[in-house]
Amino acid sequence: MQDTATLTADPLMTGVISYQTPRVADDYCRWDDSGSWLLGYPFLPVALGLDQLPGAHLVDLGCGPGDLTRWIADRHPVRTTAVDTSTAMLDLARSQHPHPAVDYRLTAGDGLPFLADGCADAAMASFLFTCIADRRLLQSLVDEMARVLRPGGRFTILMPNPDQMHDASFEGFHRGEPGARYRSGDTLPVRVRREDGSWATITNTYWPRETFQEALTAAGFGAYTELTPVLADAHGVADPALIASRPWTAERERAPFILITATR
Ligand SMILES: C[S@@+](CC[C@H](N)C(=O)[O-])C[C@H]1O[C@@H](n2cnc3c(N)ncnc32)[C@H](O)[C@@H]1O
Repeated sequence: MQDTATLTADPLMTGVISYQTPRVADDYCRWDDSGSWLLGYPFLPVALGLDQLPGAHLVDLGCGPGDLTRWIADRHPVRTTAVDTSTAMLDLARSQHPHPAVDYRLTAGDGLPFLADGCADAAMASFLFTCIADRRLLQSLVDEMARVLRPGGRFTILMPNPDQMHDASFEGFHRGEPGARYRSGDTLPVRVRREDGSWATITNTYWPRETFQEALTAAGFGAYTELTPVLADAHGVADPALIASRPWTAERERAPFILITATR
């Protein structure tokens, strides 16, 4: 699915995307994220085993506008500390997706000093690491998740499938350029379709699975597992109406996302 509109998409900003400004945070909320709701977000509670963790304390690192955070809080009896470095994103989260069991908190970047060692039962980072350009910051964030998780707690990272970053099209987005091969820490262009049909170009950082294996191991995590769902896996997990709403061509054969889970 190569839409010609993707070739003329306007750059949303220069450099690796940051969500600090209201303009970019608002724009993020207008992207067509149906693919994420099909093969990404609903698999997070599965990977984290939230059904087996009633009353758990969940940390959502890089919560953004809070729609995913609230969706999980509506369906699972967890209390969530949802953190982000963007006041613009947190303003959206607090105003549009408040929930009595969710505490939205601003962080400075690499630490969560307001959380005690081992206080969390589970942690997740959804589409966070593609906007982290610095390998040392990536390590600091993984280290911090290791600090706040109790022994046995799972950390799940949801992100673009690193095998589908090189000129790969899916419903609503296109990653990479023809002929390009990316290495750990490289930047790549991603074109995303908004709900109104227009397209934006953003810049992401490419991190292969090996980078996460190294970072998680260095932080003391073990039991590394991967989930790469395709359309057939969505039945019983994603919203049936969403599954039926589109033809989902590429998603039948190739996994747009990966969920990497490791245990403290
Ligand atoms: C692509 S958005 C993802 C939002 C949400 N998790 C989702 O899946 O829709 C990435 C978010 O990570 C936040 N972020 C970037 N660097 C961060 C850091 N060092 N610590 C916490 N959040 C960060 C950004 O402000 C942004 O809201």
